[in-house]
Amino acid sequence: MKILITGGAGFVGTNMVVALHKEGFDLVAIDSLSRHGTEKNLDYLKAQVPNLDFRRSEIEDIPSIIYRERPALVYHFAAQVAVTSSLASPLRDFKINAEASFHIARAAADVGAEIIYTSTNKVFGDNVNKFPIEEFETRYDFGGDRNQRGVDEGVSIDANHHTPYGVSKLVGELYVREFGGIANRCSCMYGPNQFGIVDQGWLSHIAFNKHMGRPTVIYGNGKQVRDILHVNDVTNLFIRQAKTLLGKSKDIRGEVYNVGGGFENTISLLELCKMWGVEPTFEGWRPADQKVFYCDISKAKEVFGWEPRVDMQDGINELFEWTRSSVNGSPKVLKANNELEVRNLIDPSLESNFQAVYEKLSRQANRKSPRLVTTAGTHFEASAETAQDGRSFIQLPHSNRIYEGDWGYQTNSMGEGGQRIGQYSKALDEWATHTTKS
Ligand SMILES: NC(=O)c1ccc[n+]([C@@H]2O[C@H](COP(=O)([O-])OP(=O)(O)OC[C@H]3O[C@@H](n4cnc5c(N)ncnc54)[C@H](O)[C@@H]3O)[C@@H](O)[C@H]2O)c1
Repeated sequence: MKILITGGAGFVGTNMVVALHKEGFDLVAIDSLSRHGTEKNLDYLKAQVPNLDFRRSEIEDIPSIIYRERPALVYHFAAQVAVTSSLASPLRDFKINAEASFHIARAAADVGAEIIYTSTNKVFGDNVNKFPIEEFETRYDFGGDRNQRGVDEGVSIDANHHTPYGVSKLVGELYVREFGGIANRCSCMYGPNQFGIVDQGWLSHIAFNKHMGRPTVIYGNGKQVRDILHVNDVTNLFIRQAKTLLGKSKDIRGEVYNVGGGFENTISLLELCKMWGVEPTFEGWRPADQKVFYCDISKAKEVFGWEPRVDMQDGINELFEWTRSSVNGSPKVLKANNELEVRNLIDPSLESNFQAVYEKLSRQANRKSPRLVTTAGTHFEASAETAQDGRSFIQLPHSNRIYEGDWGYQTNSMGEGGQRIGQYSKALDEWATHTTKS
C-alpha cells in the first residue's frame, strides 16, 4: 500500500519514513530540502530505507505527484514552520502553509487518498493566554479548571492574535478536514533528526547551542511552559491514525486532535536550561507567545488507544546525546543491552558489512541478536578491551567515550583510514562472547 509523505526529510517526516518502512508500506517521500539539516536526514534515510523513492520537489509540484502516484494515504508535513518567518514574510507563509495545503488536500481527495495533517497549537492564538495563569519560581502553569488538564480541542480558535503562522496553519487544517482528512494540533515534538533553530524546535536548538558553544537567548523570562512529545510517540500515534483511516474501523474523517505530551510531560525553558547547564541571556517577549501551553490529549488517547510512552527525562537525554553526535560527526551508541543503536557514522558504504558481521557474530555466540540500528557505516577500526572490573569496551574512532553501563563503549581518535572490518570483527567477536557469558 502506497503512502506519500510531504516534508519527508524534515524532522517528523524522517522519523515517519523510517517507522512506516518498518511497517512494510510502499513510500514516496517528497521534500524541497530547504530546511537546514535535511541533507543529513536524507543520508540517514538512504541508509535506513535503501530503496526509498525520494523526490526533491517544491510544495507547488506535490499535487501533480499525488495525481500520478495515487497513494492510499498522504501525510502532509511540509510547511513553513517558524512564527518569526511568518511575521517577516506573511505572503510566503500563506502560499506554503495555506494555499499549497489546499491544493494538496484537494488532490488527495480527488484520488481517494486519506490525508493526515500536522497543524499546531498556535491555531489557538492568544486565547490560551486568557486562561488563569499561576506563576512559580521556574515556570508558569494554568490555574483554575485548566490546571493539569490543559487545552482541549473545544477551546476557541477564534482569537485576536494568532500570528500569520497560526493563521496559515489553521487555514491548511480547515481545508484538510474539509476534504475529509484529519488534523493533529501538535505542540512541541522533539527527538533525533531534529535540527532546531532559534525560530523553531527549541529543545533541539538549545542542545545545539550547548554543543556548539553558542549562547542561548531566551525571549521573555523563561518560565514559558510547553508539553513535549517524543517523536517515537508521534510516529506511533500517526501510524495508528493511518491504520484507522485505511481500515475504516471508525469514521474519523474531518476530525482534529490535540497532540502533545500532556501535563505529565511539561517543562519550562528555565528548567531545560538548568538540566543541561545552559546559562541563558534574556530579551523581550516575542509577539503572541503563549505563557503556558499543554494539551488535553484525552481525545487522541480514547480514539486511538494511544498514550505517550517515552519517559521525558530519557527522551531529553537522548536528544542531548544525539545532538552531540551530530555536532561532532562521531559515532554514537545510544542504547545498549538488547538494543545497540549506532548513529551518525562516517562511511555509509560500510553499513551493510557492519550489519552482516554483527549478525554473524551474534549467531555464532548463540544468542538472540540485539536490534541494531545504524545510520551509516563506520571505518570499523576498533578494538575490544576488558577493563579490570571485567567490563568490556569497544573502541570506535572519532569520538570520546560514548556509553557507560553494563557495557561500556569507548571511541578514540584514530583519524581517517586504517584498518577496517577485520579488526572490527575481532572487537565484535570478543564483545559477543563476553555478552553470552554474562
Ligand atoms: N516540530 C514541532 O514541534 C511542531 C509543532 C507543531 C507543528 N509542527 C508541524 O509539523 C510539521 C513537521 O514539522 P517538523 O518539525 O518536522 O519541521 P521540519 O522543518 O523539520 O520539516 C518540514 C519539512 O518541509 C520541507 N519544506 C519546507 N518548505 C517546503 C516547500 N516549499 N516545499 C517542499 N518542502 C518544504 C522542509 O525542507 C522540511 O524538511 C510541520 O507542518 C509543522 O508546522 C511541528
